[in-house]
Amino acid sequence: MQFLLAIPFFCAALSLVRAEDNRLSYFIPVGDTIDVFTADFDATCSTWAPAISQGLFFSEAFVEPGDFQGKNADTEALIFCDWKNVTGAITSDSQITTFTVDVAASLGATPA
Ligand SMILES: *[C@@H]1O[C@H](CO)[C@@H](O)[C@H](O)[C@H]1NC(C)=O
Repeated sequence: MQFLLAIPFFCAALSLVRAEDNRLSYFIPVGDTIDVFTADFDATCSTWAPAISQGLFFSEAFVEPGDFQGKNADTEALIFCDWKNVTGAITSDSQITTFTVDVAASLGATPA
């Protein structure tokens, strides 16, 4: 009975994650600490010239240490670099464009 009651909540949580999860798993560059990589990724993502030239607006640079299991927090990270086509808050009418792969490659990070 408890299990049946929990199902709607579980499904709601799952769809929330599915809708928003654009994190990619990467090895940070050899010799970088997570802090250095995070600062570099923030700076590079938020000033990414191809995004600016497409007329987009910076949304978010995200770095979460570790892989999808939370392991290897010194060498791997879940990352994304999002730009949006609106100046203010993201609505259902906004479009998010992700530059994660290009920004990561420019810093020497490799897909994990
Ligand atoms: C952003 O993109 C969405 C999806 O293409 C579009 O519906 C919306 O009008 C765009 N908004 C602006 C401000 O360009």
